[in-house]
Amino acid sequence: MAKKKTDPWGDTVLVEFDAGIAWVTMNRPSKKNAINPTMGREMCATLETLALDDRCGVMVLTGAGDSFAAGMDLQEYFRETDDAGDEVIMKARRINEEWQWRRLRDYPKPTIAMVNGWCFGGAFTPMVGCDLAIAAEEATLGLSEINWGILPAGNVTKAVVETMGYRDALYYIMTGEPFDGKRAAELGLVNEAVPLRQLRRRTRELAVTLLEKNPAVLRNAKLATKRVRYMDWEVSADYLYAKMGEALFFGEAADNRRGAMKAFLDDKEYRPGLEHYKDTKSAKKKSGKKKAKKKAKKKAKKKSRKSGK
Ligand code: COA
Repeated sequence: MAKKKTDPWGDTVLVEFDAGIAWVTMNRPSKKNAINPTMGREMCATLETLALDDRCGVMVLTGAGDSFAAGMDLQEYFRETDDAGDEVIMKARRINEEWQWRRLRDYPKPTIAMVNGWCFGGAFTPMVGCDLAIAAEEATLGLSEINWGILPAGNVTKAVVETMGYRDALYYIMTGEPFDGKRAAELGLVNEAVPLRQLRRRTRELAVTLLEKNPAVLRNAKLATKRVRYMDWEVSADYLYAKMGEALFFGEAADNRRGAMKAFLDDKEYRPGLEHYKDTKSAKKKSGKKKAKKKAKKKAKKKSRKSGK
């Protein structure tokens, strides 16, 4: 899809819209999509924009060419910032954190990581930041940090211990041993692995399943799943009922608010400072529903009396 002047994604991030799915591609194939500061900035702007774009019902994150992403760019993210001073390093980290987990983890739309190839180190954070993940069986993943002398920071270690078991996390963090997509599925890092040639089709299938759900309920369901992990049973029980109620409330609450604004701003029918807004349309709808329910109840009673039950 041709990029418009107003689109926030640039050369390092591509976005393609397709029947409710926004395919977001990390696009530095000549550098195995290594994540540099420019990509970080473009990702932040892209995610911000897609959150409000109706063409994006589900966001799929993937990489161009033969890589998902070869982690952080060793040249631009590490070497060039090393000598630029603390402020520059902190800024680069802030941008990175912003999109890789702060935004992605709580993204208002469902997200799927489609791991199509090389996936190392810093790429684990956005992969785990996505709600669901599917890998190509042929993909190669690895916590390579230990191989070049750092520990997996950038919340990579956190992402790993949240998805893998304790022993496996320690094993791969300490050895830096690469593994394939099939193993990633066994480890629980991704939901499933499929042959590369089926990867896009299977990802689309999953995205379509998500598109069929009520978006408000889906949003609350995924956020609740993330939050309850850190709650005790009592708090979790209360929280889940509250979230469930909130999700059901969304549609009507939004209609009510819209109606009130219209009644005040356009129709000049009421003043919110002085009175409560009465949504006559939905009240009528509700009373119609109530009447129909009453009628059905009466009918059922009559029927059971007739049959002598
Ligand atoms: N940072 C910066 N540049 C990277 C990079 C990274 N993380 N990963 C790959 N590149 C660059 C290479 O330097 C090379 O650039 P050049 O063509 O200008 O020389 C280009 O991408 C292609 O990489 P190359 O190593 O030639 O490809 P390959 O197919 O032989 O190997 C990898 C692919 C991914 C196995 C290998 O590039 C690699 O090990 N990358 C580093 C992965 C890593 O440890 N990331 C963790 C960072 S936290």
